[in-house]
Amino acid sequence: MRPLDPLSSIKTKLGVVIVASVAVTVAVHTLGLRAGVPLVLVGIASGALSLVMIQFLAHGMTSPLREMASAAKTMARGDYSRRVTATSRDEVGDLARAFNSMASELEEVDRMRRDLIANVSHELRTPISALQAVLENLIDGVEEPDPVTFTTMHEQVQRLGRLVSQLLDLSRLESGSVPLQRTTFRVEDLLEQAVRESKLHSHNVHLSVRVSPLDLSAHGDPERIHQVVANLIENAVRHSPDDAEVVVSARGNQRRVTIEVEDEGPGIPQIEASRVFERFYRADAARSSTQGGTGLGLSIARWIVDLHAGEIRVESRDPTGCRMVVELPGIESLDARSTPRD
Ligand SMILES: Nc1ncnc2c1ncn2[C@@H]1O[C@H](COP(=O)(O)OP(=O)(O)OP(=O)(O)O)[C@@H](O)[C@H]1O
Ligand SMILES: [Mg+2]
Repeated sequence: MRPLDPLSSIKTKLGVVIVASVAVTVAVHTLGLRAGVPLVLVGIASGALSLVMIQFLAHGMTSPLREMASAAKTMARGDYSRRVTATSRDEVGDLARAFNSMASELEEVDRMRRDLIANVSHELRTPISALQAVLENLIDGVEEPDPVTFTTMHEQVQRLGRLVSQLLDLSRLESGSVPLQRTTFRVEDLLEQAVRESKLHSHNVHLSVRVSPLDLSAHGDPERIHQVVANLIENAVRHSPDDAEVVVSARGNQRRVTIEVEDEGPGIPQIEASRVFERFYRADAARSSTQGGTGLGLSIARWIVDLHAGEIRVESRDPTGCRMVVELPGIESLDARSTPRD
């Protein structure tokens, strides 16, 4: 039982403890002397009773601090599962609540770190095992060193290289070590260039660009935005059936620019709409396919869009297909930045 838990300040609690112990001492003293008990005994009794009183009232005032000290030691050993009692409403209670939320966040970060290591090792192992198998076959003479074998090996090496550069990109973005090179750029030029590049290796779909108004401009890092759009187009092309259309469009005004990439593929179910932005997340079909990517593209895209104070989301299309929407600041944000505040 913690009788002082409802009080919201340590000062009030201490005040109550002092007043209560003084009151007990005075009461025992007065009663004892009136009953003719010797002064020494009265002193001992009143001292003992006030100590009991303090113990009863102050119980729980400092125990969260002790709990925190012991939990912090457990955390230092890598166990983030401990939580401390946080029922008190005073400053110690606030500290205990802050401690618990810090512990939860650390636990989550630790879980993500473990997942990342597991995912990275898995993703690296797959192409390495494939390469190893082909090389062993070549050494043993089971396979001929023909162009098909070399193409397979080249594809695996490309996959490895791509994974490593994506991971580097993601870690640079997350650590903020690559500042954005912001400038004002014409959205149409950027989209046209991204589509031109995608057309080089996507012959089975029809790619088109629609921008309204034609001279629409946005403010941001064109290199990075290009990376986002290229990834969205790559995804759209990858999930499109043959002869389908992929439309890359942009609209907006001085305040906001919306870029959309629409395809006629299977789309992304509502339940997965936010998960696809997680690192290494791939829908089951993509995960089991050897053709699929690494599941990093959209998480890199989200980092880039977040750095621009924009928004990226998935919408579904009728009857089928996926619409990826990216909202970016228009050129007005440039004026807002360059206008002195006072
Ligand atoms: N246009 C789309 N249509 C259907 N599913 C999609 C589409 N875009 C993304 N997805 C799903 O979202 C998952 C994550 O996409 P993301 O771009 O992050 O990874 P990836 O394309 O698999 O690999 P990477 O881009 O790293 O090469 C994909 O694996 C796929 O399941
Ligand atoms: Mg992708």
